[in-house]
Amino acid sequence: MFSPVMPTYARLPISFTHGGGVYLYTADGTRYLDALSGIAVNSLGHSHPVLSKTIADQAARLMHVSNLYRIEEQERLAARLTELAGMDNVFFCNSGAEANEAAIKLARLYGHQHGHESPKIIVADGSFHGRTLATLSATGNPKIQQGFEPLVDGFIRVPFNNISAIESAAKKYDDIVAVLIEPIQGEGGIRIPDSSYLQAVSQLCKSHNWLLMLDEVQTGVGRTGKWFAYQHHDITPDVLTLAKGLGGGMPIGACIAHGEAATILTAGKHGSTFGGNPLACAAALAVLDTIDTESLCSNAQQIGTLLVNTLTENLAGNPVVKEIRGKGLMLAIELDRQCTELVKKGLDNERILINVTADSVIRLLPPLIIDQSQANDIARKVTTLIETL
Ligand SMILES: Cc1ncc(COP(=O)(O)O)c(C=O)c1O
Repeated sequence: MFSPVMPTYARLPISFTHGGGVYLYTADGTRYLDALSGIAVNSLGHSHPVLSKTIADQAARLMHVSNLYRIEEQERLAARLTELAGMDNVFFCNSGAEANEAAIKLARLYGHQHGHESPKIIVADGSFHGRTLATLSATGNPKIQQGFEPLVDGFIRVPFNNISAIESAAKKYDDIVAVLIEPIQGEGGIRIPDSSYLQAVSQLCKSHNWLLMLDEVQTGVGRTGKWFAYQHHDITPDVLTLAKGLGGGMPIGACIAHGEAATILTAGKHGSTFGGNPLACAAALAVLDTIDTESLCSNAQQIGTLLVNTLTENLAGNPVVKEIRGKGLMLAIELDRQCTELVKKGLDNERILINVTADSVIRLLPPLIIDQSQANDIARKVTTLIETL
């Protein structure tokens, strides 16, 4: 069928007209359970009254002014984020890729200021950092890079969750300036590193004067049961990138910096017309307030544990299941086979939105507001789906 939309996505033949809480509805009123949240975006679910009202009120007052002027909502959001993260300042943009672009530019400038003519950034196999040229070059997935050569130079790739690979790179190259990694790889298949890994990377960065840059576009803003995933590990990064769940559905990205990293991007070095506009910042402030007032970080921890336990019980002895794992509400059921067809089957048979990543990993990222009985519904529907294999 001809479509005037470029076919960059293999879309499923369904469209939703409205949503409420953890549910989405089609025009005829059929209800679907959303266990994906727009890929970790709708942190407060759909049409949360606080977020909807904040956006409507802010839109009626002021949507956009240029970054040539002070923007009060942006300043308030930056203050809130830096307080939550224990960091110093923020550059605002509109997406995860842009947040990582800012981080990559920051690292290069930092490198030049430290006398490196060709600064290099260590990145991991299996990572995903975005679709712009620099971020797809940083991404550790050849499928995403294919056809876009020449790639952006200056990335050194190492296996994920392997500290000695970073130590070897440190011996081989003398112009490394930063490490850019996801605390848990999302697109790569919800790959959770050993608990000591991030601390060890942080220590290596400190000892070599490299910037530790954490891409928390998917893991950030409550998803793993803490405001930011690094807070499970008693470390603070030099640079932290956020997007997705931060706006609860309103596009916004953030590159947060700490210590010397917070002094690098000065006037004229980076910018974004829409970045940090009053509408997106007001929405993000409402998301952060609601996560706080509704205790959604601890909800993510509790419901996440419940989901892993229930799925483990339901699927015990099922020969196709290799592993069930997760942190907060970032969950994976890894199968022994390719299972992308479960996404459509989920819609058709169980009225549930799920995702499959890395071909054989069922990924669940429900809204942070999900309750116990809805979580049990997810577990039941997903179990039924897996049993069809
Ligand atoms: C870890 C991570 N970084 C970056 C991105 C890119 O974000 P965006 O699609 O908003 O550019 C994503 C998107 O899935 C992501 O998961």
